[in-house]
Amino acid sequence: MSLDTSLSSVLADQGYLRERLQPRRGDDFYLHLVDLLAALRPITADPAETVLDYGCGGSPYRRLFSQRTYHRTDLPGTPGLDHAMDEAGRVDAPDASYELVLCTQVLEHVRHPGAVLRECLRLLKPGGRLVVTTHGLFEEHGCPADFRRWTADGLAAEMQDAGAQNVRVQKITFGGRAWMFFMDRWSCCLTGLRSQQGRRGMQLVLGLWRRLQPAWHRLADALFAHQAVAPAGTADSMIYVGLMAVGEKPTQAPE
Ligand SMILES: C[S@@+](CC[C@H](N)C(=O)[O-])C[C@H]1O[C@@H](n2cnc3c(N)ncnc32)[C@H](O)[C@@H]1O
Repeated sequence: MSLDTSLSSVLADQGYLRERLQPRRGDDFYLHLVDLLAALRPITADPAETVLDYGCGGSPYRRLFSQRTYHRTDLPGTPGLDHAMDEAGRVDAPDASYELVLCTQVLEHVRHPGAVLRECLRLLKPGGRLVVTTHGLFEEHGCPADFRRWTADGLAAEMQDAGAQNVRVQKITFGGRAWMFFMDRWSCCLTGLRSQQGRRGMQLVLGLWRRLQPAWHRLADALFAHQAVAPAGTADSMIYVGLMAVGEKPTQAPE
């Protein structure tokens, strides 16, 4: 699998990058992207000097790691990479090259996630950290393909099976905040009406919805700010939009 030019330019588009690093109320994915950014910020306190962005796309979170050596790898076809990757996700870099590997919104797009996590751990120095973000409940979106959704337990198990230790999982955008996110997104899915009149009516409703979006986001921030990011076992967190897992590469090889 490789990334075609149109997809790689979407991922590097300034608007796409701005929505991830500086989300604003009124952006289509604001309610989740602002939470994803909040989940990632504490990772920047990691003293790692060397960071690999695995499946980097346009590297939206690169600026969070300024002052570090920051390298990028992705499928063939992605411009400006530091390391080539083959179509199976293997990276042309030696073992134990990095102190932190960041893999944001990639895992749902890979056919063999265990192999990708093992590859990320291979590239880490012993004691280094692997940070993975992916989806819980989310609409299908190929990039170039979309294979699965995760539960917190499933993601933790996959990380452990790949060899990570001290794995901690956080849920991102959950409970009432997730419900407000889905209302926001699913309003945009009501476009498949058969009759022309119905489609026109829906266009009007969607136009109105777009104008209401900033207020909807303000309301979600007022009511459900506490349901942005929390450890996996938190009450009222059965429904969630995203997950972040952080694990370490063991300092000693398993016996
Ligand atoms: C939704 S984009 C995320 C890009 C970026 N990490 C971000 O957070 O915006 C998914 C990325 O996964 C990459 N990808 C897809 N399949 C992959 C695979 N099998 N191995 C490695 N990367 C893959 C794509 O090339 C793309 O850059």
